[in-house]
Amino acid sequence: VNVLLGDGLLVPPIGYGAMGLSSGYGAIGEDAALATLHHAVDAGATLIDTADVYGRGGNERLVARLLRERRDEVVLATKFGIIDPDPDGLRSRGDPAAVRPAVLRSLERLGTDRIDLYYYHRVDPRVPIEDTVGAMADLVAEGLVGHLGVSEVTGEELRRAVVAHPLAAVQSEWSIWSRDVELHVVPAAVQLGVGFVAYSPLGRGFLAAPVALGPDDARRTFPRFDDDNLAVNQRIAAEVAAIAELEQRTAAQVALAWLFERGHRLGVPVVPIPGTRRSHRIDENLAALDVELEPASIERLDALAQSVAGDRARDASWVSQGRERDS
Ligand SMILES: NC(=O)c1ccc[n+]([C@@H]2O[C@H](COP(=O)([O-])OP(=O)(O)OC[C@H]3O[C@@H](n4cnc5c(N)ncnc54)[C@H](OP(=O)(O)O)[C@@H]3O)[C@@H](O)[C@H]2O)c1
Repeated sequence: VNVLLGDGLLVPPIGYGAMGLSSGYGAIGEDAALATLHHAVDAGATLIDTADVYGRGGNERLVARLLRERRDEVVLATKFGIIDPDPDGLRSRGDPAAVRPAVLRSLERLGTDRIDLYYYHRVDPRVPIEDTVGAMADLVAEGLVGHLGVSEVTGEELRRAVVAHPLAAVQSEWSIWSRDVELHVVPAAVQLGVGFVAYSPLGRGFLAAPVALGPDDARRTFPRFDDDNLAVNQRIAAEVAAIAELEQRTAAQVALAWLFERGHRLGVPVVPIPGTRRSHRIDENLAALDVELEPASIERLDALAQSVAGDRARDASWVSQGRERDS
């Protein structure tokens, strides 16, 4: 059963986050990555999430190889706005002049003539968000883009953004251990009729399986994975694993089922986009759709976010939570 996000966009109830095929969790070969993408589409996780910045264009080029054969089976989502490499220290760019060149570059890399869902990836603090989204609206009028989304916006930024053009989705981190969005972003999305695409729904794998971080693991850039914090946070992963055992499900399935339950309770359509490099885990994650957690399990899971050690981002203003604290 498909899920209706905002602005009339229908998507499958679980998407597929392609980022890890190019960066973050250790490289796999391009052919293996392509096989995983094909499996995502075969299995029904046809909302494919990429971004211009993932693998510095490499992730979009990889997705292009899938689209060459299966464009019409895919709801294609990509993003612009993060600058990497970043010689000027700007980090994000949302000035209207930057928008059209960005989409043209993505379309070129993706080898397609339309993007179904185009996100503004990180808010540029120098540019009013309505100006950026206004420039994105021109792309819809031109037929280059089907629907618009924004990522890591505050509730207030979301309210300003929808004035410029209806939005299909806000994409932000939301999971058992990242629940700050429930304070302002989710209520705004409910009120405005914007769907929620939950990224890192497995806590970057932390909630799904024991993690042993190698020295180069990209997760070390997040405070929660600092050695001291990680030691504290292990209790959370252990509790999810214990609940999974009780429910006779896997921890990943419990994490996703919790998110569906939470979205349902708060009245927002929530579509998680877990990432994995392995086809069998796509099947495992999709099977979360059949899970109904016991009320006692939900209660235990609800309590976990209170005891997380470490912020979501090293520079808090990079995510919505940090800017909400300031306001
Ligand atoms: N908008 C944004 O700013 C933003 C930020 C981050 C991510 N995203 C998007 O969200 C997607 C997902 O986020 P994410 O990759 O950060 O985190 P995630 O989906 O929470 O976790 C991915 C990690 O979980 C592991 N995993 C997946 N399924 C598993 C299972 N069933 N059992 C055990 N481990 C499992 C994967 O390892 P293996 O690969 O080894 O399976 C990988 O290490 C990304 O691909 C990207 O598209 C967006």
